[in-house]
Amino acid sequence: MLLEVKNLKKYFPVAKTFIERLLTREERYVKAVDGISFSMEEGGVFSLVGESGSGKTTTGKLVLRLIDPTAGQITFQGRDITSLSQKKLRPLRKHMQIIYQDPYASLNPRMRVGEAIMDPLLIHKIAEGEEAKNMVLEMLEKVGLTPPEVFYDSYPAYLSGGQRQRVAIARAMITRPKLVVADEPVSMIDVSLRASILDLMMDLRKEFGLAYLFITHDLAVAKYISDKIAIMYLGKIMEMGKTRDLFRDPLHPYTKALLSAIPVPTPGKSRERIKLKGEIPSAIDIPPGCRFHTRCPMRFDLCDKEEPQLKEMKPGHFVACHLYS
Ligand SMILES: Nc1ncnc2c1ncn2[C@@H]1O[C@H](COP(=O)(O)OP(=O)(O)O)[C@@H](O)[C@H]1O
Ligand SMILES: [Mg+2]
Repeated sequence: MLLEVKNLKKYFPVAKTFIERLLTREERYVKAVDGISFSMEEGGVFSLVGESGSGKTTTGKLVLRLIDPTAGQITFQGRDITSLSQKKLRPLRKHMQIIYQDPYASLNPRMRVGEAIMDPLLIHKIAEGEEAKNMVLEMLEKVGLTPPEVFYDSYPAYLSGGQRQRVAIARAMITRPKLVVADEPVSMIDVSLRASILDLMMDLRKEFGLAYLFITHDLAVAKYISDKIAIMYLGKIMEMGKTRDLFRDPLHPYTKALLSAIPVPTPGKSRERIKLKGEIPSAIDIPPGCRFHTRCPMRFDLCDKEEPQLKEMKPGHFVACHLYS
């Protein structure tokens, strides 16, 4: 197993105003990730899907130990990394990389493209000088930035969003990582370019034998690329399973609602759109019982009282919903 996550939590303390500090000693927390467990195989694509605010980005950062968990356990390549110091994590960093959502913010504007991609090679002492430069040129070619010599010397300011994301991908891949967290890597990219970037990412996965933890709010994108999907809502996994099982036989009312929002390609055929009431609640005031009950079209009397646990309905297909208990 490449990665195993057990009962992972991240609570951010909410800053109190002066008056609040006088009136109460009680701490309040944003429960961004509230007890999730999953595992990833080598070379797989596992997607975390959910609306904005469901805790996807926080999960990605936790898994790479870019932030410290409040509770739970993270095992990477059989090694417990939950409380490794940053110093002890350093040699592992080359095996775990991240691609961020915003290609404009993720590159240093003063660094040439070639330097930006070479940087991890120098940091991890993998190569230097002419050897490093050749590795970068080869990587530029692989990510479709050709002729590589021209892109090597250019600055991010002269590149399009799609080209910048290719640079970010090259930078993440240059150390040959085993795990890449890709946090909404195409959501800020022009729609016409998205498929080609996703295809590139999938080609590189095959070539390098790496796995993606793919974060997206778009179930259609997740379907296109993943072998396993977890549906997140307010810091919890509501349903998880093989992509095929999840689409053929969705169990959770939330999954069904998300699925019903995907347009059907066949003309004349349509799916009934399940409309959810209201907005996703705040992660500071998570509803009692099932956290989805305030918006659930199937809710019944148990739902606001007891929290449903994630239960395996069929091999590898899990759901947390009282309809199945
Ligand atoms: N550093 C932080 N401090 C306080 N709250 C945070 C922080 N990062 C994220 N949050 C909150 O945690 C929740 C989950 O955020 P996030 O993981 O970014 O969700 P997603 O990526 O699914 O949109 C949100 O309510 C967000 O406001
Ligand atoms: Mg996010």
